[in-house]
Amino acid sequence: MQFIDLLSQKDRIRTSLLHRIESILDSGHFIMGPEVTELESRLASYVGSRYCVSCSSGTDALLMPLMAKGIGPGDAVITTPFTFVATAEVISLAGATPVFVDVCPDTFNINPELIGRAVEEAVARGLKPKAIIPVDLFGQPADYTRIEAVAEDYKLWILEDAAQSFGGSFNGQKAGGFGLAGATSFFPAKPLGCYGDGGAIFTDDEELDTVLRSIRVHGSGVDKYSNDRIGINGRLDSIQAVVLLEKLTIFDEELEVRQRIADFYSNRLQHRVAVPRIQEHYTSAWAQYSVLAASFEEREQLMQALQKEGIPSMIYYKIPLHLQKAYASLGYQAGEFPVSEDLSSRIFALPMHPYLKDEEIERICAVLLA
Ligand SMILES: Cc1ncc(COP(=O)(O)O)c(C=O)c1O
Repeated sequence: MQFIDLLSQKDRIRTSLLHRIESILDSGHFIMGPEVTELESRLASYVGSRYCVSCSSGTDALLMPLMAKGIGPGDAVITTPFTFVATAEVISLAGATPVFVDVCPDTFNINPELIGRAVEEAVARGLKPKAIIPVDLFGQPADYTRIEAVAEDYKLWILEDAAQSFGGSFNGQKAGGFGLAGATSFFPAKPLGCYGDGGAIFTDDEELDTVLRSIRVHGSGVDKYSNDRIGINGRLDSIQAVVLLEKLTIFDEELEVRQRIADFYSNRLQHRVAVPRIQEHYTSAWAQYSVLAASFEEREQLMQALQKEGIPSMIYYKIPLHLQKAYASLGYQAGEFPVSEDLSSRIFALPMHPYLKDEEIERICAVLLA
């Protein structure tokens, strides 16, 4: 059994995709060809944003807006310690300081109630809080109504980490469309993934869009060889663009199947483990289906039982970022973010992809219920 089955999906789009790849081979426009522009306009209308800037990965999609807004040394950027390292890494790469805020125990997303105190503590430490990066963990958007209110109080701008939530929504607004900018990832295992690395940034801000396009190509000015600012090589390949265009044709259907699978799991497992809670007015892209065991020991037992039956399971995330060696210099201690630490000790993710068969889900649930 696969944790994520990309091969069954490939069979559905293979013929049309090969046809489009062949056109690229014949055109010779391998990077930033017309397919990239076509993709950007499709993605912008999907999310409902004015602009979409595609780029080379979800990490660059987070880094580029920080660069565009001049985030640097002495600045503090708020995020959570219960996320993939890239969320905090980009803050450090920009030269700023990540300031962590614990997550809610039921949604695993940033707890808006704790943001104000973290901002004030950052100011007391001599930092200048500038922005907040809420993460839409496992596919469910964060609580943007409350986050926007706090952000306004403290004059922070919001960069949505929608790496896992592309396709999810809150109050009818698609993920990627919150805050000043939203960043997503097209890493192959993501709900919408390409066949390599890729990412995209969404914004309604015309000036930001212009600066992002410059940063994407080494800070280019009128052309690539006049450089107005420091940038990166953040371009998307034409072949990845057509992979995404083809996958977009079946994406909404896949999202519906993911939801059906999540419901199936939750109905069967709700009395055995803590199942994910999707709040009212939210939809999840179900990048992961993560459950909580009663204890660290029980998680070990359940994961071992699955492994014995050839069923893969994963832990996202085993070590919260404030306890990672890479962030030791920030000076955080164990116990500072109790919810993230507790989740890290009990959480595990089950196979989740739209090609999971009912018999397979039954078999997974049977092992956990035994
Ligand atoms: C929450 C989160 N942020 C950022 C990233 C970075 O995306 P990428 O791997 O495309 O650079 C990921 C991807 O794994 C992620 O899960």
